Amino acid sequence: MPQVKIGVLISGSGTNLQSLIDYIEKGTIKGIIKVVISNRKDAYGLERAEKYKIDAVYIRQKDYESFEAFNNAIIDELKAHDVELVVLAGYLKILTPKFIGEYKNRIINIHPSLIPAFCGKGYYGIKVHEEVINYGVKISGATVHFVDEEADTGPIIIQEAVEVADDDTAESLQAKVLKIEHKILPLAVKYYCEGKIQIEGRKVIIKE
Ligand code: GRF
Repeated sequence: MPQVKIGVLISGSGTNLQSLIDYIEKGTIKGIIKVVISNRKDAYGLERAEKYKIDAVYIRQKDYESFEAFNNAIIDELKAHDVELVVLAGYLKILTPKFIGEYKNRIINIHPSLIPAFCGKGYYGIKVHEEVINYGVKISGATVHFVDEEADTGPIIIQEAVEVADDDTAESLQAKVLKIEHKILPLAVKYYCEGKIQIEGRKVIIKE
């Protein structure tokens, strides 16, 4: 089975990108990251990609006359690398319907909560964990899901929970959830590259 060509979109430190690179380097994923694209020039994830000789591209939204044109530039970059699977690893921009249409059921996102809780517009980064702590829930976790037209609403691929301790802060919870993210995102990509993921309406079945 040929290696699946992967494109990763980032906006920040890229620890999820790093975990994906680490799994691929170990040979556990039948995929290859062809390009990493960031909308932020200062995203450390670009340096992580460069260290592994992966094309690292900064695409500046302000260079385009519209959000649509900005998204089209990202699509062009992905197509230039023959990308088959798009992974959003801490990418903080929404995607246009055209983008989602071009890569239907081929865009995977990692979200730091148990969707459908604490997700959707405005829920990203530390804010997610602050809301979890403020609400007083007893478990949180991370979700890997396919991306569809809305925010954080696509079919769920993998979830893993973690206990919210009485003395947890948003920061300590974020650290616990990040550990889960670094495990389940590469696992979902592994299953995808092995052709083990089946989508039936809203349900995702992982064929062993
Ligand atoms: C992670 O918490 C991820 O769940 C969220 O953004 C953060 C990205 O972190 N989407 P990193 O850039 O992968 O370190």
